[in-house]
Amino acid sequence: MQHFSSCILLLLLILTTHHFIPSLSEKCNPHDKKALLQIRKELGNPTKLSSWNPKTDCCNGKWLGVVCDTDTQTYRVTNLGLDELDLVKPLPIPPSIPNLSFLSFLTLTRTPNLVGPIPPSIANLTKLMYLYITQTGVSGEIPNILSQIKTLLTIDLTNNKLTGPLPASLSSLPKLIGISFDGNQLTGTIPESYSSFPKSFTVLTLSKNRLSGKIPASLTKLNLAFVDLEQNALEGDASVFFGSKKSTQKILLGKNSFAFDIGKVGLSKDLNALDLKNNKIYGTLPVGLTKLKFLRKFNVSNNNLCGEIPQGGKLQRFDESSYAHNKCLCGSPLEGCKA
Ligand SMILES: *[C@@H]1O[C@H](CO)[C@@H](O)[C@H](O)[C@H]1NC(C)=O
Ligand SMILES: *[C@@H]1O[C@H](CO)[C@@H](O)[C@H](O)[C@H]1NC(C)=O
Ligand SMILES: *[C@@H]1O[C@H](CO)[C@@H](O)[C@H](O)[C@H]1NC(C)=O
Repeated sequence: MQHFSSCILLLLLILTTHHFIPSLSEKCNPHDKKALLQIRKELGNPTKLSSWNPKTDCCNGKWLGVVCDTDTQTYRVTNLGLDELDLVKPLPIPPSIPNLSFLSFLTLTRTPNLVGPIPPSIANLTKLMYLYITQTGVSGEIPNILSQIKTLLTIDLTNNKLTGPLPASLSSLPKLIGISFDGNQLTGTIPESYSSFPKSFTVLTLSKNRLSGKIPASLTKLNLAFVDLEQNALEGDASVFFGSKKSTQKILLGKNSFAFDIGKVGLSKDLNALDLKNNKIYGTLPVGLTKLKFLRKFNVSNNNLCGEIPQGGKLQRFDESSYAHNKCLCGSPLEGCKA
């Protein structure tokens, strides 16, 4: 009898150890776990997320795309990265994502079946620093409410189906480093307010949209490292992005209708890519181009440029196609200038 009860005791001990020790030591915050499981459900339980096992700790490093905060030992979910989800039908951005209130990094990528608008409730993520929604079917306007997430550093909404204007209020984000909205169907002009982005702001990429009109002259205040406005319907003066005192590395303005005198622009010594192809840019190429040590990409073809191509530096390393189809550009690598 005594033997029997000690056996039971042992059995009980084994059972309790197996059942309770893991959950006692579970680091995952119960609110976060509940939200994650709800998110999975809202996504139609994709097989990609089969590692999100409710019986396991969401902070065990095995939940695909989930990272918890181990630095402050609070173990709140700080990163959610969902990539190439196998959604069985078109579904919206999961409404429970804003419940992960400690998120600083949100990535939703390469999921064409993710559709519908960016929900305004995303503004509840008051610790969000990086927002990446790329290569999805997400549509509608870019919500102005994003400007309420004061912690935002980077907003990347590349290659979706977004429409409507650029939200003017984004320039009020105090820590913003960059916005990339390439490959959507955005319309309208670049807002005047974009001249008041904070000092930290260095990346503006809006290529392959339907933006039109002139660049506000006040944007000359910006010191961008990287500007890409290719393949829009922008016009007028884009010399605001140039300047010898700026630390600009890439200026990509091809396939628009820009018209300004290239001979008058100042050149950042850090410039490594200058693509102005297919515009209506006029004047003579500045001799300063020969001083650019890092120039790797250069194309001024299909403009209205004239005069001699400055000789020296890296300029003759680019072939004729970088200079072709201008009004009267001459000299190596094109034909010599007539005396
Ligand atoms: C998400 O937050 C809302 C509002 O606070 C709450 O009603 C809802 O129950 C939460 N959902 C989950 C899955 O935690
Ligand atoms: C977002 O916050 C608002 C008010 O702060 C609240 O009413 C709403 O339930 C929250 N939504 C989510 C999804 O947490
Ligand atoms: C420059 O652009 C033209 C299109 O206008 C293109 O045909 C050519 O291949 C480009 N050259 C280089 C070197 O990128």
